[in-house]
Amino acid sequence: MKDDIKEILFSEEEIQRRVKELGAQITAEYAGKAPLLIGVLKGCYVFLADIARCIDLECEIRFITASSYGLSSITSGDVRIGMDFDFEISGRDVIIIEDILDSGVTLTALKSFIEKRSPASIKICTMLDKPERRQAPMTADYTGFMCPNEFVVGYGLDYAERYRNLPFVASLKPEIYS
Ligand code: IMP
Ligand code: MG
Repeated sequence: MKDDIKEILFSEEEIQRRVKELGAQITAEYAGKAPLLIGVLKGCYVFLADIARCIDLECEIRFITASSYGLSSITSGDVRIGMDFDFEISGRDVIIIEDILDSGVTLTALKSFIEKRSPASIKICTMLDKPERRQAPMTADYTGFMCPNEFVVGYGLDYAERYRNLPFVASLKPEIYS
């Protein structure tokens, strides 16, 4: 698996340090509240597991799925959302936890889906942000790192369902895609 890597962009140590900072910031900003963390599967699973343990507040943790139709590395713009409707969003302080903000299409759809359910507040926390690829005007409230305009894997992010378990974020050698 590690032979497929071109370059490590964010090391395990850098990520852990940044996740602790974000967790501390959220803890301070939501003091006295019990935020509802909604993770966007599947890419969020590592980031959510780490950041949730750095948030020193009572949290409720739920998941949502969002997939766009089409090829693995291209967003088609048509987002399919899936959720178990066994939890209340109404009146809650929602923080959406996402792996990467890329075109912005997924988060735009998710945010409006959640907004329709009357949360008290809604914020977005993303591990990575690739602003150069934006198609929909979307910004995150909490961002781990700005990411260069390259396809990356690791720390939850996949290419064809592989590499999610790498503890760092890396780019892949071009021959992997061909
Ligand atoms: P958006 O709708 O284009 O912002 O897409 C976001 C989703 O596309 C993310 O949640 C990822 O699942 C996927 N994605 C975007 N860029 C990458 C990448 O560089 N590596 C792996 N997955 C990515
Ligand atoms: Mg994702």
